[in-house]
Order: sequence, then C-alpha cells, then structure tokens
Amino acid sequence: MNFPYLFSPLQVGPYQLKHRVVLAPLTRLRAAKPSLAPRPLNAEYYAQRATQGGLLIAEASPVLATGFGNPGVPGIYSDAQVEGWSKVVDAVHAKGAYIFLQLWHVGRVSHSSFQPGGALPVAPSAVAISSEFKAGTADGRAVPYETPRALETDEIPQIVEAYRQAARNALAAGFDGAEIHSANGYLVEQFLQSRSNLRTDRYGGSIENRVRFLLEVTQAAIEVWGADRVGVRLSPYGIANGSGEAEPMPLYSYAIEQLNPLGLAYLHFIEPRSSGAGRAEVNWQGVPSAMVLYRPIWKGVLITAGGFAGEAADAAIAQGHADAIAFGRSFISNPDLPLRLQHGYPPTPYNRATFYGGDAAGYTDYPFYDAMAPA
Ligand SMILES: Cc1cc2nc3c(=O)[nH]c(=O)nc-3n(C[C@H](O)[C@H](O)[C@H](O)COP(=O)(O)O)c2cc1C
Repeated sequence: MNFPYLFSPLQVGPYQLKHRVVLAPLTRLRAAKPSLAPRPLNAEYYAQRATQGGLLIAEASPVLATGFGNPGVPGIYSDAQVEGWSKVVDAVHAKGAYIFLQLWHVGRVSHSSFQPGGALPVAPSAVAISSEFKAGTADGRAVPYETPRALETDEIPQIVEAYRQAARNALAAGFDGAEIHSANGYLVEQFLQSRSNLRTDRYGGSIENRVRFLLEVTQAAIEVWGADRVGVRLSPYGIANGSGEAEPMPLYSYAIEQLNPLGLAYLHFIEPRSSGAGRAEVNWQGVPSAMVLYRPIWKGVLITAGGFAGEAADAAIAQGHADAIAFGRSFISNPDLPLRLQHGYPPTPYNRATFYGGDAAGYTDYPFYDAMAPA
C-alpha cells in the first residue's frame, strides 16, 4: 500500500475520517436552470467521489441571489436548492463519506447581468477589478469588470444574516458542516485585503477591521453548526480574480490567530503556486508555501490544496505541514482518486474544456480504474 500518512485516520470535528484525501471544492456550473438547484446528475457526480470515511467539500454555493458571478452555480438560499442538495448529501452518505458545503458570495467578481434587477454587484468598496482581468456576463461575453457598489455599513449585517440562513439551509439539507469561502478574491477576501477594501467604518482600515467581516460570518455559521463543524478557506499570497495583498503575513497571521480560539473543524488553504487554477493551468514558481508559513500559527486541523500528487501529499503530512490534502483537478478526472493513489493505479488526465458547464461529459463519465482491464 502506498502513502501511509495519506491513508491514516484523521479526526475532523466530530468525524473520524478513514483517509486524508479530500475532494476540494470545485465549481462545475451544472445546476438546474433557472432554479439553480442541484439535480440528480450532481448527486451522481458527488457519490462517485465518495468513499467510506472520506471528506468531500461541495462546490461554492452563493448564500444570496446577489452572490453569483457564473451561470449554473447551485445556490443555498431557496427551498428548491435545499431539496436538491439533500439528494446530493443522501447519495454521499449512502457511500459512507462526509460532505461540507462551501458558502459563497462573489462580491465584485459578479456582473450586473447576474444581479437581480440588473443592479451593480456589491463589494466592500467601489473599486473595480483591474482591466487586465475580464468579467463573464450572463450571456457569455467577456467584458471589463464594473465598478461595484460599496455596501452601506448597515447592509453588512444583512449579508452576515444571509450566511447564517445559508448555514441553516445547509444543515437542513443534511450536510456534515459548512466551509466559509474566504479565498480567491471573492467577497470575504475583498473585505480582508486592502486593495479591495477602502472602507473607513469598522469593516475597513486596520487589519483588525478588515478581518471583522470574516469573523462575523464565521461566527454566524458557528452559531448554527457549532465550531467543530465549520471550516474556513483562505488563499494567502493568492492572485485570483484580481486579489493580492502587498504584505500578506501580518494580515493572515492576525486572521488565523483570531480563528484559533474558535475551535473550528479545520482551516483550509489554497497553495499560492496553484492560485487561479480554476481559470488556467498555473504552476507559479518562487512563491511561498501557505502550509509551511502558517502551520506554526494554526493550532487545529490544516487542509491544503494545490498541485499535489500522492508523493508530495504524503510528504506534506509526514513532515507535519498539513493534516489532509484536498485534490481538485485530479479528482475531477479520477472519481476513484483515493483508490488510485493507494494502489498506485495510473491517473486519467483531465480535460479543462469540460470543467465548466454542460452535462455528463467531463463530469460523470470519467472512468473508474478497472484492475482487470488490459492496460
Ligand atoms: C474547475 C475548478 C473549479 C474550482 N472551484 C472552486 C470553488 O468553488 N471553491 C474554491 O474554494 N476553490 C475552487 N477551485 C480551486 C480548487 O479547490 C483547488 O484549490 C485548486 O484547483 C488547486 O488544487 P489542484 O491543484 O489539486 O487542482 C476550483 C478549481 C478548479 C480547477
């Protein structure tokens, strides 16, 4: 058997995982339209990737109708969406795996074509993403990002309430926990970072103020779930969607120190070398490693993702840099990834052209390894 560290048990909150190969949250744009509810195809996809005692983190799901920036993303704010997700959860539980839902709001990464009434997207401040990046519109065009509307101070508690309601909805759908998406340049990270947050109220300015929204959203989820079933995802040193903090260390060290006493299920990183892997094949060189930098600060379970194969994943755990590894692209094309890693079966390469949108092709039709089939 390969990779003894990757294939050792791990306690995550109340759950005893049987191995440490986690499904990373992956946007696939295949929810039903116009309900934006998960459908049977989505349940099949997740069930394919579920193993006894494994952990799946379901794709980012907006907590509000204003939180979308792509077509076909499943939401977690309507009854139909809760119903759809409950079928996904049931299918995953039938295979003996655990599943958390990632709670999302894209903030300024949206476009008015996705917004109710064609309004401008909302964000901490009226700062557009730089013109070197392009926004996608609801009818599939690539256009410059719009300048978002800055949230009024008294609107922010309403957004926090939307996260709380979404956490309740995830609980009602039967999920095992919720993850706060605070990575990749989306709303929570827009509050964290000084380039997207120019506020002068208690949500902006100092690091303490910029971290407040993350802590309030996390606290809302904790009040629904209990801390040991809530995770947080961060992408320090990331550059996705026009993000990037000039000096990440003080900001992220402070955020992690504030998260430490809460007793979360886990902290989850995207390694900087893979920042933006959703949009293009990236492998940034000469960038720091999030797990190496922040492991000494974070006191709980640490999951990280970004360009790992079996050897590197096992080594990261053996060296104490991480407790579990989340796999994204390789789990897309290998529904039985844990089995393949454990037995050294060759992986199927992924096809980026079918990452987003469509039906079963490139989604549920990747083969399971058949040890009996001729090579
Ligand atoms: C198609 C695709 C969709 C993604 N969607 C999400 C998402 O919804 N939420 C998130 O936090 N990260 C998302 N990511 C980032 C992955 O979770 C992961 O961190 C990244 O792909 C690096 O891991 P990998 O090298 O194993 O693919 C996405 C990546 C890809 C390729």
